[in-house]
Amino acid sequence: MTSIRNIVILTGAGISAESGIDTFRSEGGLWEQHRVEDVATPEAFERDPDLVLRFYDMRREAIQTKEPNAAHHALAKLDAEWDGELLIVTQNVDDLHERAGARRVLHMHGEHLNAWCTACDVRSPWTGTLIDRPACPECGEAALRPDVVWFGEMPYQMDEIFAALRGADLFVSIGTSGAVYPAAGFVRNARELGAETLELNLEPSQGTAWFDEARHGPATRIVQAWVEEMLSLHR
Ligand code: OAD
Repeated sequence: MTSIRNIVILTGAGISAESGIDTFRSEGGLWEQHRVEDVATPEAFERDPDLVLRFYDMRREAIQTKEPNAAHHALAKLDAEWDGELLIVTQNVDDLHERAGARRVLHMHGEHLNAWCTACDVRSPWTGTLIDRPACPECGEAALRPDVVWFGEMPYQMDEIFAALRGADLFVSIGTSGAVYPAAGFVRNARELGAETLELNLEPSQGTAWFDEARHGPATRIVQAWVEEMLSLHR
């Protein structure tokens, strides 16, 4: 990997698991406790906004009690010290990459700590609840929704993601099951565009066969080891 300069890193719920945030598809995970159709679609929000708002209020409150783990810190260190291009594309709606100090982060599925006004289209930083229908700080309308991409909606910043994939020498996927597109397809896109591909996950993901190399184990261990390897190769 000595000729690597530009890196795209995709992260998923597995990187935050050891911080105590539930993943989606594990045994007892979020999508076993709640049906996607009830809480994570625009139709669900139309049908039963209280249920949806309460679900996201609880998640927003919970993530504020969690701390970044060694894997988030390792990626933040790589971000700080890597002088080539680097982009962390996260599917996670928590802010643990940022709280660990990472700067080059893009949230393709939105962020818990934002509220999105459906009246004026402005996003505002948000740590409190939405169930009580607070006014939008921008326009005053009580029309705020979670700034989280629901099933059936388009993920954010796809143009920026594909621009980064086009320039990538290495694509690394961390802590994601490979079940949700378009993120699950990035490995194939990256390969077609000429990048090396590496999976770091607790277990083989659904897309594991597409990767040039796969390393399996808890993120706190294998991400840290990989970051040290990358930084030592380039010292
Ligand atoms: P999943 O819950 O589908 O997958 C998490 C992956 O992390 C699994 O493959 C686990 O094996 C792995 N994992 C668990 N603990 C780990 C650990 N300690 N270290 C490393 N890996 C670990 O979560 P995502 O792939 O992120 O979308 O799910 C993708 C999207 O589906 C989410 O962004 C969300 C969800 O529906 C939206 O809400 C739009």
